[in-house]
Amino acid sequence: MDLQGKNVVITGGSQGIGEQMAGDFAAKGASVLVVARSEDKLQVVAERVGGQYLVADLGSASGVDGLVDACLEKLGHIDVWVNNAGLETSDGFADTDRELVRVVNRLNLEAPMMLTRDVLDHMLPRGSGHIVQVSSQAGVVPFPGFTAYCGTKAGLTNFTESLRLELKGCGVGLTVVAPGPVATDMWDRADYKGSYLEPALRRFRLLQQLPIIPVEKIAAQVVAAVEGERRHVRLPRRAAMYHTLNNLPRRIVEIGLMGVKLRRPAAARS
Ligand SMILES: NC(=O)c1ccc[n+]([C@@H]2O[C@H](COP(=O)([O-])OP(=O)(O)OC[C@H]3O[C@@H](n4cnc5c(N)ncnc54)[C@H](OP(=O)(O)O)[C@@H]3O)[C@@H](O)[C@H]2O)c1
Repeated sequence: MDLQGKNVVITGGSQGIGEQMAGDFAAKGASVLVVARSEDKLQVVAERVGGQYLVADLGSASGVDGLVDACLEKLGHIDVWVNNAGLETSDGFADTDRELVRVVNRLNLEAPMMLTRDVLDHMLPRGSGHIVQVSSQAGVVPFPGFTAYCGTKAGLTNFTESLRLELKGCGVGLTVVAPGPVATDMWDRADYKGSYLEPALRRFRLLQQLPIIPVEKIAAQVVAAVEGERRHVRLPRRAAMYHTLNNLPRRIVEIGLMGVKLRRPAAARS
């Protein structure tokens, strides 16, 4: 997709990977709308990239419902939707606050699913669009301390791969982003001396399995994936084996379904 003049919505665009993507999409000539809770940060990002913003708490249904319509009111139409807002867990699951487990599920899994549902109603009749799901390597591997987070990201990844089969030939592309650790506040909040994760992280560092990905690198690869309509962004490269093994059953199902004619979504037929 040529991003010049395209409208891009990024949830979790107030900082971190979302903020970097906002700048990178804008640099390609796109009009960017960022969504998050912190209005002060959103204002700064929107001003810097010459875009717009909307304040919404995506950890609650009331923040999610109506968001796509609110974005459409501001933009007219949406070409690219990036589900990026997310929250980590960093304690043993049995010691994780119940309310945090609920919010992490709503923000990392329910919100992207519902927003995908809503934006498809807009993209399918147009026969074009691209949806990016910022998942994680934690959706492919288990890791003590990230347990609830791993569950939500595995759900987001497999939801998207199943949706891909349903949307074949409808003109709407899907990209799953699955990075390892990225240098943002999220990683800083999880990786500190004395954290629950520390002993496990120490072992993985010894095994050379924890290179930290610069935020610029992951954002640039997401933009390139949308431009090139690529299915996946997976970093670091040394995790490729995990992804290949994890994706094998999906490829087998996809090949098994070759030639099967599924009913097109109603919105694509209208
Ligand atoms: N950093 C990593 O190591 C890493 C690795 C793999 C995947 N990821 C994924 O990458 C995505 C971005 O993470 P990041 O590293 O950039 O984290 P971050 O720096 O903590 O940024 C998270 C973003 O999500 C927004 N957000 C959080 N709670 C929200 C809520 N309830 N409603 C609306 N927006 C909310 C935050 O804005 P407000 O606080 O203003 O709402 C912020 O813009 C996440 O989905 C994360 O799971 C990160």
